[in-house]
Amino acid sequence: MQLRKIQDADLENKKVLLRVDFNVSLEDGKVKETFKISAAKESIDYLLRKNCKVALLTHLGRPDGKVNSEFSVQQIVDDAEMVLASKITFIPDCVGEKVKEALDSLSDGILLLENVRFYAGDEKNDEEFSKKLAENFDIFVNDAFSASHRDHASITGVAKILPSYAGCCLQEEIHEMSIIKDHPVHPAVAIIGGAKIETKLPVIKFFEDKYDHILVGGKIANEAIDQHVQFSEKVILPIDFVDDRLDIGPKTIEKFKEIIASAKMIAWNGPTGKFEDERYAKSSKEILEAVIRSGAFVLVGGGETLEILERNDAMHRVSFVSTGGGAMLDFLSGEKMPGIEMLES
Ligand code: 3PG
Repeated sequence: MQLRKIQDADLENKKVLLRVDFNVSLEDGKVKETFKISAAKESIDYLLRKNCKVALLTHLGRPDGKVNSEFSVQQIVDDAEMVLASKITFIPDCVGEKVKEALDSLSDGILLLENVRFYAGDEKNDEEFSKKLAENFDIFVNDAFSASHRDHASITGVAKILPSYAGCCLQEEIHEMSIIKDHPVHPAVAIIGGAKIETKLPVIKFFEDKYDHILVGGKIANEAIDQHVQFSEKVILPIDFVDDRLDIGPKTIEKFKEIIASAKMIAWNGPTGKFEDERYAKSSKEILEAVIRSGAFVLVGGGETLEILERNDAMHRVSFVSTGGGAMLDFLSGEKMPGIEMLES
């Protein structure tokens, strides 16, 4: 896959619209996990070194095309300033005069534009809205791998209008994800958990074809058992549980740990139990320890799985942490990634 990269662009003194994914969880107006924000730092610093005027564009939650302060990006400004170590000016709109004026007068730091999903035109990929997003800028950079499975105006619509390039984070995500997808090192093990079996079946199918073992836990294991879903012998479902199937049981944990110990490559998406409740966090913790101990190449993705790493101070103890949840699943399952296709040269 040949991408147009920011390293290939003529950026000097350009006005750049940088699509990031700051779709983070908030608690009392504070960002719970800043990983997605820090993922944009490399591209921002690169663009600033090229004397660009940079405006960050993101979605936050699903406000359904309406202005709703609960989903305002303004709540992220303080955390973003700290994580990105850059002065941030928040603009209470993502299109129009306010953006133009702020760009014209920008002399220090970067702009952070209001939630693009306050406009229904984003998710509808409305052409007129895409033109409005584009009109104040010279160049579009997509650095939001985790939103690139969406065919939205802020991902693909604007990329059709402006010269568009892949940011550093997007490039790295594709590189690491392609190793997991196309070059498994055996024994290769996938750990799949979380909820909504229908969204996980395509990725389990992908791993059944290419990997040696697929360990299934979390709600999807219960759903698979209840729905009598048929898998090959590579897929290992829990053999025991804790309480009302809120975590996998000790025998299953031991079995999973034994398989993980001999793995050379591990892909993990989704918790194996209701880890946010300490009583049911045992499997997630023990699996995490086993994954780290294995010495395998380990790629972890998905918002909740990242929370497990964060809670156990393990963000830097695995080979690669992906910002992608749904995007990771779609990429690995071979689904279309419209945001990435738009950047292919
Ligand atoms: C994510 O959090 O997985 C991405 O930001 C995509 O969000 P979405 O599912 O609301 O499009």
